[in-house]
Amino acid sequence: MKEKTAKPLLKVENLTVRFPVKRGGLFSKKSYLYAVDDISFEIARGETLAIVGESGSGKSTAALAVARLVKAHSGSVLLGDDDFLSLQDEALRQARAQVQFIFQDPYASLNPRLRAEAVVREPLDSLGTGDPSERQASIDALFKAVGLRPEQQRLFPHQFSGGQRQRIGVARALATRPELIICDEPVSALDVAVQAQILNLLRKLQKDFDLTYLFISHDLGVVQHMCDSVAVMYMGKIVEHADRLSLFNNPLHPYTKALLSAVPSVDKKRRQETKRILIPGDPPDPLSPPNGCRFANRCPAAQEQCSQSQPPLRQIAAGHTVACHLVSDNGIAPI
Ligand SMILES: Nc1ncnc2c1ncn2[C@@H]1O[C@H](COP(=O)(O)OP(=O)(O)OP(=O)(O)O)[C@@H](O)[C@H]1O
Ligand code: SF4
Ligand SMILES: [Mg+2]
Repeated sequence: MKEKTAKPLLKVENLTVRFPVKRGGLFSKKSYLYAVDDISFEIARGETLAIVGESGSGKSTAALAVARLVKAHSGSVLLGDDDFLSLQDEALRQARAQVQFIFQDPYASLNPRLRAEAVVREPLDSLGTGDPSERQASIDALFKAVGLRPEQQRLFPHQFSGGQRQRIGVARALATRPELIICDEPVSALDVAVQAQILNLLRKLQKDFDLTYLFISHDLGVVQHMCDSVAVMYMGKIVEHADRLSLFNNPLHPYTKALLSAVPSVDKKRRQETKRILIPGDPPDPLSPPNGCRFANRCPAAQEQCSQSQPPLRQIAAGHTVACHLVSDNGIAPI
């Protein structure tokens, strides 16, 4: 891991996002679905934090709340020295240019009626970044940086392959010279060979443009070469958080172990040693989560005490926290 600078670029504290949900008849009481439930994390400048978890665990909602694209119910998001969630007007406009998004489906997220050049230019115009007379030169440079040819600027999104479309999405995200890029499943819609190309491109751009990434994926295999640290989410909560090596070499939470056992290993010995841990069933209803551990109904290690209280996140080693009653204080996992 790179040496940490004193202050993180992004510091998220006790972030909670809830959605009002109506159930039953006309006069039913409004209840809330806590899609993100009191999560905290930080990312050092120039580093990548991956958030992983199954579908519905709250990854996208957390990412959207960090970027102020959905409203946080409570908590804070510090971007450098700024309290991002309370900025307004000009300060907000400037901060918005610092935080950009790359979405999973580049086709759905790019305006089909705009030529590629206009797609990339749009955030520059709307956020007023840089001198207008220099915008064409920066667009040319961005196309080059993401591996697209100058003449491709004139084409429409549907004239590109999936991988090329994601390159346009990357160029668009880079246009305002952001410090933080939130990548929400940026390669999940792509073929495996194309996935590797885009991941390599993102890694190269991180170095060239000194970027910090919040990288969302349901697949630990995708993030294993991409991140400095990993936060594992389950039903709106972070259940384990560690630097990359600790998480991959010494996972502690049964859910993390199950996710990891599904990652095909390139190392033959490791492949033979790793038993696939199947997670039976589905997560409980998010509208009425259990009082105890939220993973208890699916956990192969569950004991009676697991259902009695919610396990808090505990620090087991420097930078390694886990929320499981049965992980011992000296870091012995239950399975
Ligand atoms: N606008 C919304 N209104 C109500 N519920 C929502 C809304 N957006 C998300 N949810 C719910 O919040 C929970 C978390 O959803 P989210 O999309 O953040 O999960 P995710 O981890 O990104 O999943 P995926 O891997 O499928 O993208 C889910 O239960 C989802 O149904
Ligand atoms: S607290 Fe119990 S049910 Fe929850 S993950 Fe740990 S062992 Fe499994
Ligand atoms: Mg999502």
